[in-house]
Amino acid sequence: MLKTNKKERVKIGIPGLDSIVHGGFLRGSNILISGGTGTGKTIFCMQFLYNGATKYDENGVFVTLEERPKELRTEAAKLGFEFEALEEENKLIIIDAASSRASLPSMEKYAVRRGFDINTLAQEIYRATKDLGAHRIAIDSLSGLGIKFEGLLEIRTAIFKLSALLNELECTSVMTSEIPVSSSWSRFGVEEFIAQGVVILFLDEEKGELRRSFVVRKMRGTSHSLKRFPFEITDHGIVVMPGGEL
Ligand SMILES: Nc1ncnc2c1ncn2[C@@H]1O[C@H](COP(=O)(O)OP(=O)(O)O)[C@@H](O)[C@H]1O
Ligand SMILES: [Mg+2]
Repeated sequence: MLKTNKKERVKIGIPGLDSIVHGGFLRGSNILISGGTGTGKTIFCMQFLYNGATKYDENGVFVTLEERPKELRTEAAKLGFEFEALEEENKLIIIDAASSRASLPSMEKYAVRRGFDINTLAQEIYRATKDLGAHRIAIDSLSGLGIKFEGLLEIRTAIFKLSALLNELECTSVMTSEIPVSSSWSRFGVEEFIAQGVVILFLDEEKGELRRSFVVRKMRGTSHSLKRFPFEITDHGIVVMPGGEL
């Protein structure tokens, strides 16, 4: 098993963001990316894995629970993240956990088939991570679990299982949670406590215009800025404005 230095930083590679969290996420930590719809959670995941594989020699596993892999590849390519090329080079694996949830067949090598269940998902994550020697994992999104499971207890149990697996794998991971309007920072009320870090993405109306910003709400074991920072989504993904705290 990979030995991790808990103080070591893993660069996110999003322009302007690493310096705000003093050099990156702590190696082996699990970070929750929380926000409303269209705030950039999926793009954050894409960028984290793409940069890992292309700039930092860290392979990644993308677990997609909402968009099917084909859509994800198309969306990623539009932002210049050539997922298909990375998959061919054995630097990225996409796990299809979206098709079965929609009762559709999956042609993917890594997928949850014949009805969705959390143990199968956990096995696929484990298999993909070992096959690739992955150092980064993205789970997008936990909210997708809500459609398949009946009660809150069942969903929370599933989240705890995933979290235990992520800790065991010693990868640096991001998981997303879609929240309605910022009433709370997590959908199911447990993600924010399980995660070692919480980043919240906002899309707020200001003078008749929608503006994007984010806050690092929690980052266990490290100091971080508590300010709100504006960011943009460009043709190359998320860009944080230099020195542009709100
Ligand atoms: N090339 C682009 N230029 C500017 N904004 C973009 C571009 N591509 C996507 N977006 C923005 O990103 C949003 C989708 O981000 P996404 O990560 O899918 O959100 P979430 O996963 O939080 O729902 C779109 O609604 C759009 O506003
Ligand atoms: Mg999304």
